[in-house]
Amino acid sequence: MAKNFIIANWKMSLGHEQTLDLVDQIVQQIQPSDKTEIVVCPSFISLVAVAPKIANSGIKLGAQDCFWHDEGAFTGEVSPLNLKEIGCDYVIVGHSERRGYLNETDAMVRQKVKAALENNLVPIICVGETLEQRQSSSKDFIIMQQVNKALAGIELTAQNQLIIAYEPVWVIGSGQAVEPSEAEHTTQVIRQVLLDYFPLEVINKRIHLLYGGSVNPLNIREFLSQPTIVGALVGGASLEAKIFWQLIKALE
Ligand code: 13P
Repeated sequence: MAKNFIIANWKMSLGHEQTLDLVDQIVQQIQPSDKTEIVVCPSFISLVAVAPKIANSGIKLGAQDCFWHDEGAFTGEVSPLNLKEIGCDYVIVGHSERRGYLNETDAMVRQKVKAALENNLVPIICVGETLEQRQSSSKDFIIMQQVNKALAGIELTAQNQLIIAYEPVWVIGSGQAVEPSEAEHTTQVIRQVLLDYFPLEVINKRIHLLYGGSVNPLNIREFLSQPTIVGALVGGASLEAKIFWQLIKALE
């Protein structure tokens, strides 16, 4: 059976000490399982300290962003090569908060995807429509365009995996998720685009489609019981060990 994914995006919500406390609690409470891949994505400043804490726990480490070069004169940027070196296996790219606040473009997202894959990191590509785009009935087109632009010319080696997370921008942090059936429709649209790029076997085994946006312990099960959704990218509900644990329990 394919693995489920629960990926915690802690954004800029916690201080360094708070992050370490949360990690300690999570490691104590959460048993590794071969059914669910658990990934935590702290802010950059805490990655190095979190890595040894989760090293033998089965929980994986992810970063919230990376640059598209491995080294050089790029003040303030973070190298995907260095992320791999300190123990990251995953990296979020193209989160709507970066697209929105920092004008990150589809072309930048594509370069980051390529750099992540070259360093054997699993890119978690975030796509999603704003409320305006939704209201102008262009949601599916926007999603297809974001996926197409992120993947143009991208090749996967036998080691590479890829995650695409559908996160409707307007529900993030709102407490109100979209209907699971609608998320499923959108991940099916994404899967349709993937068929233009990769063989079916690669899509089935190494590309994983997630939903994100106000996921909580009460709704996670319904999202993950949709045919093409195999995981959740979680913000708010991953910031307390007890609720995080409930998310995982809800799937059992
Ligand atoms: P919330 O779960 O807080 O809505 O955040 C979702 C998100 O942006 C994860 O990347």
